[in-house]
Order: sequence, then C-alpha cells, then structure tokens
Amino acid sequence: MSKVLFVHPEGRIQEVDAAEGSSAMRAALTGGVSGIAADCGGEASCATCHVYVGEEWVDKVGGPGLDEDDMLEFTECERQPNSRLSCQIRIDEDLDGLVLNLPESQ
Ligand code: FES
Repeated sequence: MSKVLFVHPEGRIQEVDAAEGSSAMRAALTGGVSGIAADCGGEASCATCHVYVGEEWVDKVGGPGLDEDDMLEFTECERQPNSRLSCQIRIDEDLDGLVLNLPESQ
C-alpha cells in the first residue's frame, strides 16, 4: 500500500491509501477526495481526473501516453507541463508519498 497526497487548490492536503497496481484516480475516489470527477471511469476519455504532478515527482511519474496526451487538451483548467490524468497514473511502491495538486475545476 502506498500513500498519495492530494493538495486542494486552497492548500489543504488529503492523504489517501493507494493499492499498488491501482490508479491514483481510484485512490482519490476511494479516499473521498473531492475535486476528481472521473466521469468516464478511468478510460482516459473525459479529462475530469486532471491533476498537476508535484514537481519533485514528475520524473518518477513520467509523461502521458498518446491517448492521454490528446485528452489533456480538453482539461477544464489550463494544461501545464506537469499535467496528467490521474486515471492513467499507476501506483507502485516507487510512488509512495506521491503529491498530486488538484486544479480549481474539472
Ligand atoms: Fe476519465 Fe480519467 S477518469 S479521463
């Protein structure tokens, strides 16, 4: 089990458990994190699970896949270099303590 820290726009931090192999989006929903809508259920086709990866985690998390990259053009809040869809971030032990910043809206 790894920890993922979701940082709300006003600075509040919510720490949730994430099973290895599951997605950061799933961990957010299970942990009751508001600010992740995940309308498509994790199919990379809605862009309502947008997060900004904490700068210190960008290299470990890596960049988006091709489909995700396309979908990131449709985020409600402006895309940044550290933008990812949280349903496409697979949790493993190397990501224990991962910091994901939530956008103002989805
Ligand atoms: Fe729809 Fe991630 S849940 S794109």
